[in-house]
Amino acid sequence: MSVTVSQQWGERLRKVVPWGSSTCSKSPRLMPDEPGVIVRGKGCRVWDADGREYIDYRNALGPITLGYRFPPVDEAIRKQLESGILFGHPHPLEGEVAEMVCEVIPCAERARFLKTGGEAVAACIKLARYHTGREHVVQIGYNGWLNSLARGGRVGPRQVARSAPPGVPEPLSDLHHSAGWNNTEGLEMLFADIGDQVAALVVSADYARMPEGKTFYPFLRELTNRYGAVLVFDEIVTGFRVATGGIQQYFNVTPDLAVFAKGVANGMPLSVYCGKAEIMEKLDRAIVSSTYGGEALSLAAAKATIETYRTRNVIEHIWQKAERVWSGFADLFRQYGIPAHMKGLWPCIAILFDGDAPEGFEARFYRAAYRHGVSLYNIPYVTFSHQDCDLDETLERMERGVKEL
Ligand SMILES: Cc1ncc(COP(=O)(O)O)c(C=O)c1O
Repeated sequence: MSVTVSQQWGERLRKVVPWGSSTCSKSPRLMPDEPGVIVRGKGCRVWDADGREYIDYRNALGPITLGYRFPPVDEAIRKQLESGILFGHPHPLEGEVAEMVCEVIPCAERARFLKTGGEAVAACIKLARYHTGREHVVQIGYNGWLNSLARGGRVGPRQVARSAPPGVPEPLSDLHHSAGWNNTEGLEMLFADIGDQVAALVVSADYARMPEGKTFYPFLRELTNRYGAVLVFDEIVTGFRVATGGIQQYFNVTPDLAVFAKGVANGMPLSVYCGKAEIMEKLDRAIVSSTYGGEALSLAAAKATIETYRTRNVIEHIWQKAERVWSGFADLFRQYGIPAHMKGLWPCIAILFDGDAPEGFEARFYRAAYRHGVSLYNIPYVTFSHQDCDLDETLERMERGVKEL
């Protein structure tokens, strides 16, 4: 079989970059069907190094919510580049974007910036510990590698640690507790045991079971109020996707602190931690600081992105197009007897394979999708750039792919 340029790159990367990628979930596992590298994107499509085109539902694993090279965002970046990237004092954009965040995010009375989602969650944990004078942290779901410290907790979006995760000292692990999504009984027991020592409860949504958030989030609000713990919503995926103001807006439950990252700047590296002024002001003593926090290109991108959300029907578009394409997938699954189903809320749906699916079927399914020019992820994302014609083409390509299975 002839080796593609993309495949050669994939192999070259593996020799020098552990995992073949700096982001574990981006590491290609299904070459040569899956692209080894992507070199370009436009709208809802990406191209690999051999010029093969894919309709993309990976979208950088979430951050691209408006589409690749979305003109207003790219123009804002270009314009800011003419004035500079980073300075020795704050740039006005830092204030402007913080004001916008406080307007669109329900819990935000103060906001501050970092580069990645995980470090922003770590900032909230530090802040909550100082605010409460307590040490223990309860986590539900994945909150970034930096915070994967609990036994049995998530060390990656899809990986669970059995004992203390490798590289984490036991005494540190002892302070972190992993709890299951919507396990209200387990949480009641855990809080009955250590509730008066819990500084923060950090929760990221279980995408397949997100509708349960209707009762689960109010339960978490009441539980943390009862025990005096800080409630932190990890909105890194749900923010600017389920609703502009995230899951807190969608389910109308206001946390004390929240973190946003993917979706805030259409791919530029920016994370936001925000929340109640009373807690955020404690940053005067609980120090969080990064040289790159107020970097102006990402802030310019965030300003243009949030403006787009405010002035155009981005959320409505994402919900409508996502419903159309994923219900189309569900129909294909039924029609061709594919042992899989779609579960969750349309903008962050999960593709789940049935327990009795034949061995290796999931990999064969994704390979077929790639071969026919559809770049999928287990949580596939629709953007503001996916139009009906792209969805029709996706379903046609997928039908050709599933027929091969
Ligand atoms: C829910 C959630 N929290 C935290 C993170 C970590 O964000 P980052 O990779 O920007 O550190 C991720 C990343 O995938 C995530 O999905």
